[in-house]
Amino acid sequence: MTNKRVDDTPPVLVIGASGAVGRHVGLQLAASGVRVRTLTQRELLDPASLEAAVQGAGAVLLGWPFPTADGATEAVGVLAREVGRVVFLSSSVPGRPDGGVEALLARSGVPHTVLRAHGFAAALQWAEEIRAGGAVQGYGGAAGLNPVDERDIAAVAVRALVENGHDGARYVLTGPESPTQAEQVEMIGAAVGRPATWQEIPRETARRRMSATGRLPAAVDGALDFLHARIAAPEPATTTVQDLTGHPARSFRAWATDHAALFR
Ligand SMILES: NC(=O)c1ccc[n+]([C@@H]2O[C@H](COP(=O)([O-])OP(=O)(O)OC[C@H]3O[C@@H](n4cnc5c(N)ncnc54)[C@H](OP(=O)(O)O)[C@@H]3O)[C@@H](O)[C@H]2O)c1
Repeated sequence: MTNKRVDDTPPVLVIGASGAVGRHVGLQLAASGVRVRTLTQRELLDPASLEAAVQGAGAVLLGWPFPTADGATEAVGVLAREVGRVVFLSSSVPGRPDGGVEALLARSGVPHTVLRAHGFAAALQWAEEIRAGGAVQGYGGAAGLNPVDERDIAAVAVRALVENGHDGARYVLTGPESPTQAEQVEMIGAAVGRPATWQEIPRETARRRMSATGRLPAAVDGALDFLHARIAAPEPATTTVQDLTGHPARSFRAWATDHAALFR
């Protein structure tokens, strides 16, 4: 991708522009001279609002921040009618509706790219406990996960949005290594300059806490099974970020260093 201004390029609609990845997609597109349009909350599930927002857009970044695929048929239908390219921010997390949205996109015939991202590095679910100076309580401290930096996901998304040659691709995006959850907490502590530790809780306690946040039972069990499996088999890394952007994927330690202020 070049840095030249491309004012004649149709704008890109960024759905979820305030989100962890969407905000970087907007910034990186704007830095490349691509016009950016955003969608404010609620419009994604309202086909008429979505239709108005996509008018004249050349491409769309789609995220599906909902627990079910309800409304996805209508939303994908609008995108398939109105735009020439969709980049879908998906995941391989069990119990999430992303697979259903991917299937709808495939059936719709709209040219699209799927970004199957591992968990975002943004470990803000631990921020309150680390700020309070206590241990982070959770299940699966020994699970080796491979978080991917939101800026790297965004860099891949920008390429898929503005370059040709990505339609039909399914990119699995990971960080470069798989520290355990307990190690990730320690890395945040090191970045903050104050030790942070993991405190393991029983699966049933974790299940009750996750259910209390309104997550569907299938999503809760899927997430806990996933963590259990990653104790014996840490998540593998892909080279997709490096292959597509030309720079190595950022490590979780680097993410923690750059975001230490969020945990102080
Ligand atoms: N979280 C992860 O670790 C992770 C990992 C891999 C893939 N993903 C995928 O990334 C996508 C987004 O994930 P996330 O929810 O975790 O991201 P997020 O960073 O929480 O962002 C969600 C975005 O969606 C917007 N939004 C919420 N409700 C909306 C509505 N009704 N209409 C329009 N926009 C709405 C939010 O806007 P407001 O700020 O206005 O609410 C926000 O900008 C999903 O497709 C998910 O599967 C997530």
